Amino acid sequence: MKPSTLGNCAAESPAFTGRLGEIYAKMERVVPAMEWRFFAPDVAAILELKRRRNAIVLAHNYQTPEIYHGVADIVGDSLALARAAAKTEARVIVLAGVHFMAETAKLLNLGKTVLIPDPKAGCSLAASITGADVRLLRERYPGVPVVSYVNTSAEVKAASDICCTSGNAVEVVQSLGAPKVIFLPDEYLALNVAKQTDVEIIAWKGHCEVHERFTAADIRNFRNSHHGVIVLAHPECPPEVIAEADFAGSTAGMSDYVAGHRPKRVVMVTECSMSDNLAVEHPEVDFVRPCNLCPHMKRITLAKIRRSLETMTHEITIDPAIAVRARQAVERMLAVGRAEGAAP
Ligand code: 13P
Ligand code: SF4
Repeated sequence: MKPSTLGNCAAESPAFTGRLGEIYAKMERVVPAMEWRFFAPDVAAILELKRRRNAIVLAHNYQTPEIYHGVADIVGDSLALARAAAKTEARVIVLAGVHFMAETAKLLNLGKTVLIPDPKAGCSLAASITGADVRLLRERYPGVPVVSYVNTSAEVKAASDICCTSGNAVEVVQSLGAPKVIFLPDEYLALNVAKQTDVEIIAWKGHCEVHERFTAADIRNFRNSHHGVIVLAHPECPPEVIAEADFAGSTAGMSDYVAGHRPKRVVMVTECSMSDNLAVEHPEVDFVRPCNLCPHMKRITLAKIRRSLETMTHEITIDPAIAVRARQAVERMLAVGRAEGAAP
């Protein structure tokens, strides 16, 4: 830590020395010292609680930097978090993300305690469809397999043949060897997948409330106002936005693009925290920051993670009859990754 940037009093404070000082050094470019003073006691308490409870924190790429760089043991996209949940030996998993991610972690760890710091952290996609809707679709399209995006409830997963994430959607659809599949609930992801395969896709009309707001005109404006900017977009964006982008991929795909290509200037057409988290890792890259917040992701705070570990709430529970079938759909997805040589 550089005392000159903090002032002597700050440099001597416990928030800026020892382990807390090391953690803050990682994120000082994006978290002001004033804010860190406020976060540091929760970070210290969470580190101790994780040790005592044999717990790990899995954090999605849209979590704020003090969570992502401060207390997370594993960070990543939905696919990486599902894979990490399948492998962990910790007794307790705290999912710093939204409810469907915590449910997925529980499906893969039925004997462990999975906690979500705020049970109201939902998702507009997961809320757009029920298990009964999937059963109606099956009646309407008999024999057509159902691929459900992980951004769904366990009940919807249980009514599906296989799950996918934005990181493996094309591979999963093609793995079925069927001429036609029902792909739900994200209409835009379905349309974006359809462009990359010959499989006929039947879509549902769910949308992500964060990504549906981006327009093709936004992308043209970024290019006009930020010379040479490289545009990366999440495939939950409308197809006309993807058509204007230089690259489309999951949050991990975008992160890998920045690490691999090191663009001088980049814009991430996705949730706000993604750029903050990557800016920490890539100080040489100029991140243009359009900001669409996911209100559900932002329900998770350090204070709620601390409380969750103190009180062992809010525990995810899933009806065993639903869990068995939902787990199969998630495991089939993970097996597609393994068959194609992805990290197990
Ligand atoms: P990723 O799997 O790409 O991280 O996406 C999850 C999500 O909720 C995006 O809005
Ligand atoms: Fe759901 Fe969109 Fe929020 Fe992701 S960003 S959790 S898809 S509402």
